[in-house]
Amino acid sequence: MIKNDLYLRALKGETVERPPVWMMRQAGRYLPEFMEIRKEYDFFTRCQTPELASEITVQPIRRFPLDAAILFSDILVVPQAMGIDFKMKENTGPWLDDPIRTAEQVQNVIVPDVNDTLGYVFDAIELTLEKLDNEIPLIGFAGSPWTILCYCVEGKGSKAFDIAKSFCFQQLEAAHQLLQKITDTTIAYLKRKVEKGVSAVQIFDSWGGMLSPEDYQEFSWKYIDQIVEALSPLTHVVVFGKGCWFALEEMSRSKVSALGVDWTVSPEFARKTTGGKMTLQGNFDPARLHSSPETIRKMVHEMINRFGKDQYIVNLGHGILPNIPVENAEAFIRAVTEWKG
Ligand code: CP3
Repeated sequence: MIKNDLYLRALKGETVERPPVWMMRQAGRYLPEFMEIRKEYDFFTRCQTPELASEITVQPIRRFPLDAAILFSDILVVPQAMGIDFKMKENTGPWLDDPIRTAEQVQNVIVPDVNDTLGYVFDAIELTLEKLDNEIPLIGFAGSPWTILCYCVEGKGSKAFDIAKSFCFQQLEAAHQLLQKITDTTIAYLKRKVEKGVSAVQIFDSWGGMLSPEDYQEFSWKYIDQIVEALSPLTHVVVFGKGCWFALEEMSRSKVSALGVDWTVSPEFARKTTGGKMTLQGNFDPARLHSSPETIRKMVHEMINRFGKDQYIVNLGHGILPNIPVENAEAFIRAVTEWKG
């Protein structure tokens, strides 16, 4: 059905000619055509308008020989649907006028009908699939409950998410209530994405690495695992936990199809801690795309040789940075398509 199914074959652990490649945040500010649309429409308008979201999704696909597309959207559309009024502020990022800091506020957070509140995402999937014309798979995504809680409580981005952590440690019950509401909404949301035709879903736990291994179990993994359990009978589930090297072994015992790793982990460590049989995704340092195209090419080939071509998806270790030259992003992708074992 899908003409280039390298990404899906890697998720199944099948033998491939070369590993597939895509980049986290591949539809983003390093692309001049993205910046053109960005001049005209604010961030959540781009997310909420299916024609714009699908157009932005396919922009990098027109330019580069990528093996998967990821729907342009944001993890924060889920808390928005739950009645939490996120804005995207220029030069600040995600912003809440009224962050969630009390049990009463948690009580007021709703678990919505996703068809009523997030219909625009499902419409964007439909339009995107038309544009992709079965060439490559489309990935759907959501934030992890813990990472979403971080933004809901902190009210903005943060280096350490201290306020979010102290909320969890001081108001245990409210924290778990909020995490469960986010989990329930996310499960319904991702199930609907699968019904609409995405080929895999990825959970972004961008701030899991802020927690100790014990707290990670209690506040993050416990909820991610509910999502994995609910979705894995329906589709491939990939979990990317930034800074979560300490949890890789536990994660590898779950029903995920693949695990994402960041660049602070060596391929050998990642292979060893996940038992050598798990499909892994990553982990080029996004800042390394500032190296010359020749160096990028050499480093990507080394990375593939160290991870091994099978059970491996080439990616960055986190999202692409806005100031990366387009030709360097292209060198990264072409290094994979030109790799010879
Ligand atoms: O990967 C893709 O191409 C799909 C698109 C995607 C976006 N956000 C678009 C976006 C994905 C997968 C996300 C996920 C997301 N959003 C995460 C998890 C992944 C990660 O990077 O850790 C997080 C933590 C968010 C919340 C969020 N949205 C932040 C922290 C920011 C950056 C704010 C800033 O000004 O730098 C955003 C905005 C955002 N989401 C942009 C894009 C392309 C850039 C802002 C813009 O285009 O105006």
